[in-house]
Amino acid sequence: MRAAAVKRFVLVAALFAALAAAPAQQRAQEGAQDYAQERAAAPAQDRAEERAAMVRAAASLAAAAGVRRVDPELLAAMRAVPRHRFVPDGLRAFAYRDQALPIGHGATISQPAMVLMMTQLLEPRPDHIVLEVGTGSGYQAAILARLTRRVHSVEIVPELAAGAAARLAGLGYANVAVRAGDGYAGWPEAAPFDRILVTAGTDHVPPPLLDQLRPGGILVLPLGRDADSLQLTVVRKSRSGRISRRRVAPVRFVPLVRDPPAG
Ligand SMILES: C[S@@+](CC[C@H](N)C(=O)[O-])C[C@H]1O[C@@H](n2cnc3c(N)ncnc32)[C@H](O)[C@@H]1O
Repeated sequence: MRAAAVKRFVLVAALFAALAAAPAQQRAQEGAQDYAQERAAAPAQDRAEERAAMVRAAASLAAAAGVRRVDPELLAAMRAVPRHRFVPDGLRAFAYRDQALPIGHGATISQPAMVLMMTQLLEPRPDHIVLEVGTGSGYQAAILARLTRRVHSVEIVPELAAGAAARLAGLGYANVAVRAGDGYAGWPEAAPFDRILVTAGTDHVPPPLLDQLRPGGILVLPLGRDADSLQLTVVRKSRSGRISRRRVAPVRFVPLVRDPPAG
């Protein structure tokens, strides 16, 4: 039963990955058309019903992948954050489908089911200080900002970092700090972190991130030898500093890239 559920999840994830990779121009045109109509029809509509349906779909997909219990606070955060404000204008019509969408520079805003799973596995609490590696659109940071005390988020593409910082500030998320840089190195000045979330795939846990994780802390990341073997993985650091890992589900993610060494 569990193997079947995981198979289904891989299938659905692959389907969504294919959708995200579909000719962006055609989808952008369709999206622009739909969105223009929607704006003309209901300029101030907040799309709360679409968002609630998206959260239900994300929760059932996460349950099929093995994340069965989801905190009500997380569901409420996902119902509250306007995902359509985090996707390019031309794709806003698709914002409440449970799928990843391209946000430029080869990056994607993650599939809502993935955001839900990763956030739940992180076990965020209101007193936590969190590091996110891979700000992208800023959507995941906004979800974390509603659930924790402070979020520090690092993005390697300067244009994405600037866009996300402006978007988050514009939406009133005063407890998120975004900076451009290579998140492999973490954010030493703001460490230690209670929680760390890496939203790009890597073949090893970056040692600086383990160093910056507080004892008793949790780090969640897509981990695997290559892009086809990534597993959503929960890394725990015990109070005594012992590290343990648990694989949760196969996933697809853009790779964690490195800044070229200076000089
Ligand atoms: C799947 S996207 C993140 C989605 C994002 N969390 C959101 O809510 O939109 C992965 C992001 O990681 C970024 N990235 C890749 N390598 C990185 C690195 N070494 N440091 C920081 N960001 C990195 C990519 O540029 C991309 O924006």
